[in-house]
Amino acid sequence: MVILAIESSCDETSASVCAHGKIESNIVATQLVHQQYGGVVPELASRAHQQHIVPVVEQALKQANVQKKELKAVAFTRGPGLLGALLVGASFAKALALALDVPLIEVHHMQAHVLAHFIGENKPDFPFLCLTVSGGHTQIVRVNDHLEMEIIGQTQDDAVGEAFDKTAKLLNLPYPGGPLIDRYAKEGNPLAYKFPMTEMPGLDYSFSGIKTAILYFLRDQTKVNPAFIEENLPDICASVQHTLVQMLLTKLRRAARETGIREIALAGGVSANSGLRKALTELGEKEGWNVYIPAFEYCTDNAAMIAMAAHYKYLRGEFTSQEVSPLPRMEF
Ligand code: KG4
Ligand code: ZN
Repeated sequence: MVILAIESSCDETSASVCAHGKIESNIVATQLVHQQYGGVVPELASRAHQQHIVPVVEQALKQANVQKKELKAVAFTRGPGLLGALLVGASFAKALALALDVPLIEVHHMQAHVLAHFIGENKPDFPFLCLTVSGGHTQIVRVNDHLEMEIIGQTQDDAVGEAFDKTAKLLNLPYPGGPLIDRYAKEGNPLAYKFPMTEMPGLDYSFSGIKTAILYFLRDQTKVNPAFIEENLPDICASVQHTLVQMLLTKLRRAARETGIREIALAGGVSANSGLRKALTELGEKEGWNVYIPAFEYCTDNAAMIAMAAHYKYLRGEFTSQEVSPLPRMEF
């Protein structure tokens, strides 16, 4: 059972080959063209996917030592994501499946982030909770089975990745700023500055308030000292990161206590954040949880997670018709 999977929902063109549930290759081409614009430019993302997709797929097949004719299915990310970007992957997958006369499998990008936990040996037991944190989403997901999951809490406005990236922009750091905040935070004092945490009912989040608070804080401080940012960058980054991590974990702890679930996983691009990984590990020890944190290569967007989701869909015979079109907003 050899499956080729394609991921093209945002600014990473990726292809992966999975054989009998084992990932044989995972090639990711990151688009650097967006850096100069301080964010992903949808039109440029589509064009870059168009340029990268053939070489990325060829490389994924070569690394897995698989010929196209050996493929039993072709999978792709149907959504959520940028429409023009999704269209490139979807069209490519449809054409290849048609040419090879094999089934087509659609995958939900956020479900795939959760299923990245089934790539390695250390797999969570069902049911587990997954805190999925990316540039577009912040969700607490209750996972009952590989393809049965429900969102029990989520952001009502910005995603936490957006909060990282927008803060980075205010600090004059290039896009994507999340990893840079992480890097500077390592040398700073997380308690140097205090930012207000927005309280939301239940298990939901809100990150738009803290973004505004940071904006006003920096504006006031630079009025007094124009060099404030340069002189205090590590402390600012550490304090912002500490606040965001605390907000994430407060609701996760509540979710674990309310559901009685102690199998706790982390997924999505922001799960690469070292402060979050460390704080979750420590909280897990305190609360008696089994904590699952993906390897770095499976945190940010990649096709291996799409291939993993496709593997479970293939086992269930969940295939998609050639009439399928991508969904920029896709229900779980
Ligand atoms: O999952 P992902 O690759 O793409 C989406 O589906 O959105 O997540 C990208 C997000 C960006 O906001 C990026 O800044 C953030 O993940 N990110 C990080 C780190 N690495 C990536 N945020 C904080 N610390 C990091 N080390
Ligand atoms: Zn993602």
